[in-house]
Amino acid sequence: MTTATTNLPSVKTTLVEVTDKLSNPPCRIFFKNEYLQPSGSFKLRGIGYMLQKKIEEAKKLGKSKVIVFSSSGGNAGLAAAYAAKYYNVECTVVLPKTSTDIVIEKLKKLGANVIVHGDHWGEADKYLTEVVMKSINEDELPVYCHPFEHELIWKGHSKIIDEIIEEGQLPNLNNVKGIVCSAGGGGLYNGIVEGLKNQKQDIPVLVIETEQAPTFHETVKQDKSITLSSIKTLASSLGSPYLSPKAFENYKNHPTKLGLIDDLDALKGSIDLYDKFGIITEPACGASVSTIFDKQELLIENFKNLQKDDIIIIIVCGGSSANEETLEFYRKLIKDSK
Ligand SMILES: Cc1ncc(COP(=O)(O)O)c(C=O)c1O
Repeated sequence: MTTATTNLPSVKTTLVEVTDKLSNPPCRIFFKNEYLQPSGSFKLRGIGYMLQKKIEEAKKLGKSKVIVFSSSGGNAGLAAAYAAKYYNVECTVVLPKTSTDIVIEKLKKLGANVIVHGDHWGEADKYLTEVVMKSINEDELPVYCHPFEHELIWKGHSKIIDEIIEEGQLPNLNNVKGIVCSAGGGGLYNGIVEGLKNQKQDIPVLVIETEQAPTFHETVKQDKSITLSSIKTLASSLGSPYLSPKAFENYKNHPTKLGLIDDLDALKGSIDLYDKFGIITEPACGASVSTIFDKQELLIENFKNLQKDDIIIIIVCGGSSANEETLEFYRKLIKDSK
């Protein structure tokens, strides 16, 4: 069950205890069900909130129209298109030639104009920002939807935490020993830390990445901003070449643990989630969920002395590129790897 949030395209999501359905969990486990967002992932929280604020800004500036722009064929692009449709504003998405017909169709179904340009994301994004966005009229306000890097996006994501605490979704806040989320560019993590700060909570966050896209780990290891030269991960939504500088700052100021798993563990997380709960998500989400199945040691190592009535919250962040067929393909990949 979800309920609409006042004048936002994102919805309030449930927080559900799943402890009894797990084998030998170290403590009580709750799912924050962001996969239930209408665009399929938490991304709608941030992008929807940003668009709401930009529409208000356009009114103040006397602009005749707002136009949403995105170069993401993933969950951020879907969130941008969904949010634009919700507010009845135009949306243009530029995608590289490598994009699949499925993605293009999904975006078109949401009413977005889709332009195919460039051989890879970088070229599509350059064309969007340097050509398409430059060609708008002076009385129009462009809204560029970066997948993770914007204050308003983090603020939108932070409502996940407000909701858990202000809506009294938890039996006992004092028993919460940790929150687990996946990270690509770190936008979701930034939102969670902002939400915890707003609520004056210093609950530790465990951030999960894959060894094939260890952006956060490398940034921390080298103690500076880095760019990964090549990324080949099956958890493709986590494949950001760099980390939001704000995430690095948050890491230094908020109790944060980093967990690294293999791509195959992330796939297995998605498969286990489907087999035990019937929930279909991308490996980007399977990554954090794996900590309640095969990778439980990450909870035990990072949240010390867990007691039976302690609580861990897993952000079930969702992802639209998975379906039953892809999950079967992942099953085969895991089997073949043995
Ligand atoms: C389903 C899903 N989970 C997690 C992430 C990672 O989010 P972030 O880039 O904000 O760290 C993404 C990013 O696209 C995603 O689509």
